[in-house]
Amino acid sequence: MLDITQPPSQPLIAASILSADFGAMADDCRDVLGKGADLLHIDVMDGHFVPNLTMGADMIRGVRRHFPDVFLDVHLMVEQPGDYVDSFAEAGANLFAFHIEVCKPMRLEGVDAGELIKSIRDVGMSPGMVVNPPTTIAQLDAGMGPYLGDLDLALVMSVNPGRSGQKFISEVLDKTRWLKERSAPGMRIEMDGGLNLETTPQAVAVGADVIVTASALFGSDDRAHVINTMKAAGA
Ligand code: DX5
Ligand code: ZN
Repeated sequence: MLDITQPPSQPLIAASILSADFGAMADDCRDVLGKGADLLHIDVMDGHFVPNLTMGADMIRGVRRHFPDVFLDVHLMVEQPGDYVDSFAEAGANLFAFHIEVCKPMRLEGVDAGELIKSIRDVGMSPGMVVNPPTTIAQLDAGMGPYLGDLDLALVMSVNPGRSGQKFISEVLDKTRWLKERSAPGMRIEMDGGLNLETTPQAVAVGADVIVTASALFGSDDRAHVINTMKAAGA
């Protein structure tokens, strides 16, 4: 199993199964893992935080059954992430990443990130925190700053979440740079959304070391080339 706290020598490639063939999920995952993807990224949407509905504990459990040794990075685009900590841990998730936008102080009556991080650790998962494109560096500082030492991963969204296949928003690179300057060696910096062969070098240049890819990978007829080229982005 991948140790997410170890700084990688090349960017890790997280294959987002949102663009996999849902009718052939295990086959599609096996294909990208065989071609060098380092982990699987699972996008959970609740129809409230974002309009779309995608997958939950049953999908995590199903993927885990087929791939007992693969790191499962779960990205929760949901209003109440705390409701899913126990069931996702039991289903086999390794990393549980929730949005800063549902937490205090961005949301007055929102989630207490410190308590949530502790509950994620208590069930043996790695905590991650996610920031959307419109959220500013000042809001990032206030909402994630106090927890940077407690997180295994910070995720910078480079599209507005909800679906695959959108265009990379390059303005968010300032946030990746900001996080890189403040991150300990044990914390990974992930970017998600619109990453392809053109945009991945920009993300890696400012400090991203986990690259999420859905459409650019699953939509390609040369997936090995996509993975190898993305991995070489830092060289
Ligand atoms: C977007 C999801 C992403 C998405 C990325 O809401 O969080 O993980 O699958 O898709 P691409 O790589 O196609 O932008
Ligand atoms: Zn995602």
